[in-house]
Amino acid sequence: SVQTSIEKTLAAMTLEEKVGQMAQITLDVIAEGGNRYASSEPLRLNKKELEKALLKYHVGSILNTTNNRARTPEVWNKIIAEIQDIAINKSRMKIPVIYGIDAIHGATYSVGATMFPQQIALAATFNPQHAFETARVTAYETRACGIAWNFSPVLDIGADQRFSRLFENFGEDPYLSSVMGEQMVKGYEGGNIADPHHVASCIKHFLGYSVPRSGKDRTPAYIPYHQLLEYHVPPFRKAIDAGAKTVMINSGLINDIPVHSDKAVVTGLLQQKLGFSGLIVSDWNDIENLMRRDHVAANMKEAIALAVNAGIDMSMIPYQYEEFCDNLVALVKEGKVKQERIDDAVRKIVKLKYELNLFQQPITYIKDYPDYGSAKFARLSYNAAAEAITLLKNEKQILPLKKGAKILVTGPNANSMRPINGGWSYSWQGEKTDEFAKDYNTFFEAIANEFGTQHVQYIPGVSYSKEIEYYKQYKDQFNLIANAVRSSDVVIVCIGENSYTEKPGDLSDLSLSDLQVELVKEVAKGGKPVILILNEGRPRVISKIEHLADVIIQTYLPGNYGGDALADILSGKINPSGKLPYTYPGAPSSLINYYHKPSEAQEKMEGAYNYQSTPESQYPFGFGLSYTTFKYDNLTVDKNVFSINDEINITVDVSNIGKNAGKEVVMLFSSDMVASLTPDIKRLRRFEKIELDKGEKKTVHFKIKAAELGFIGTDGLLKLEPGEFNLQIEKLSRKIRLK
Ligand code: IFM
Repeated sequence: SVQTSIEKTLAAMTLEEKVGQMAQITLDVIAEGGNRYASSEPLRLNKKELEKALLKYHVGSILNTTNNRARTPEVWNKIIAEIQDIAINKSRMKIPVIYGIDAIHGATYSVGATMFPQQIALAATFNPQHAFETARVTAYETRACGIAWNFSPVLDIGADQRFSRLFENFGEDPYLSSVMGEQMVKGYEGGNIADPHHVASCIKHFLGYSVPRSGKDRTPAYIPYHQLLEYHVPPFRKAIDAGAKTVMINSGLINDIPVHSDKAVVTGLLQQKLGFSGLIVSDWNDIENLMRRDHVAANMKEAIALAVNAGIDMSMIPYQYEEFCDNLVALVKEGKVKQERIDDAVRKIVKLKYELNLFQQPITYIKDYPDYGSAKFARLSYNAAAEAITLLKNEKQILPLKKGAKILVTGPNANSMRPINGGWSYSWQGEKTDEFAKDYNTFFEAIANEFGTQHVQYIPGVSYSKEIEYYKQYKDQFNLIANAVRSSDVVIVCIGENSYTEKPGDLSDLSLSDLQVELVKEVAKGGKPVILILNEGRPRVISKIEHLADVIIQTYLPGNYGGDALADILSGKINPSGKLPYTYPGAPSSLINYYHKPSEAQEKMEGAYNYQSTPESQYPFGFGLSYTTFKYDNLTVDKNVFSINDEINITVDVSNIGKNAGKEVVMLFSSDMVASLTPDIKRLRRFEKIELDKGEKKTVHFKIKAAELGFIGTDGLLKLEPGEFNLQIEKLSRKIRLK
């Protein structure tokens, strides 16, 4: 059996071989020429370095992309084959290497792969099927490259709108994130990772990574224990129950403890409480960071002991692997790290390699993946984008736009694939996207295709710069635009952000950049209908220009087919059905989530005290318009009084009373009216996306367990206290009482 093979393998390994399995190095270390930014030639491996890592130090894992070196599936196949050849045919233990990659919205490191909307956009579809399909195809195309381990999905909740990795999350809601995350894990792993169409997923970044107090990446977060359990744990719990094979640890500090050294979180919470028994990998350089950045270890040896004893099985080192291996061997010999801890870690690593069938099939080849980059995969990506894009404003029924209208398209996001895909596309910061995604349509190109090139004019407008002094440089552009506006029927202004991720995406002001604000003001002077297309990884504050636009559409980061989906929404081929997966802030310092406390709700102050000039939120969580109208009736709940073991059945009728077929997201919220910890004003408990023809009516059923209405107390235990609860769907609500 596999169990026996694992134990046999373990029993035959030396300490050095075991420690090597726990080391993960970056591709740069074994690449010809070292630094991965150096060349545009296809990557070649440095045989000497590769043999040193794999044969002398027994390194068990490698990660990373080749950045600007040409990377086709064939190039990837060659790299992986060379690595596995040495690991399997030249090493004593013949253990294959496990290669890890960030394929976070498609196999984004490989040319021609299908690029999907980023997670934040998938969340906006409120359709779990898209999360599943995205992951399924990504797994397939990742295996086509020969890679079997994907560092995805991100299950941190996107509760701080400033965070540079908000776009990598499923939005602010723990329940939505749980449902989407579960489907993504199932899509990646397919219930059987030995099947060469699937990969091992890696749920990250455990835990509390996305809510640093400053909003800046890898700065301290302060989260009470009960809130960790209430908001941050649920998506991970669901994914673990769905079989997620690996976990990556939060790079930052929670309550002043670096998570990489926190045994209570890594072993206590993750393994003992949540029952996770798979592989736990560090984030990039984060064991070294215990010493260099976070000052909880005086030297590397102490840092390694802290992390390994906390429960980390594999270190994403990523460069100084000799130091890691030598120190860890010494620590075991000195008794500072127990042999059992090493065996426990290596057992998990070897088990994962067996489960992935890497011993039998260490590499998969593109020739066996005929659907790589196929039209049917493209269609799935388009469908997801079409259901994600969210209509936030549509005054005077400007949309759908009439064919034949003269359209001016402008703005920094109008004619580039880079912001459409965002970070982790073709390269870490996404800066290579325009070079690699030439075959896909930008917003301008897609609009021109849809409405006819003779009707659509493009003027770049401005850059993203926030320096208003540059405004002068753009005077010419503004004159051009003013003229073009005069001869147009409608102006489409594409604004937002360029691609980024992690630290380089940190912000000190969530407002949309000044130049973009100026551009919108200039355009609006012309008196023509203004359509704002937002293309951004996080909601940049638009309160200064919102009133100048007749139409506002949020596209998020919709991937390579996002331009086509947008154009089809503008023309009415697609009826928009996306809903905001976060609260869109109305001011840079008004950062709340929909599940805030009653005292955080916007208060209307009168007279002299009315200093609140901007609304708390521009648009609420779950908001999104349609080209049709839905009516909700007959909310029924099968019990007025319930007890803790009950199931509660809820139904509601939804009718399409408008002029077009359309999709609607039906959301069930609950509120605890009185509780011993101040309750959130409401919480999403269920949702379902339905499709209704014009004039059609459907009854939607939800079933929830009474316990799901509870909350986590300060002792870390689930509480369900007697009293009144409110169940709410759209504007309908019913009160029920717990005995
Ligand atoms: O998977 C990523 C993680 O999300 C951020 N740091 C680097 C890892 C590997 O690229």
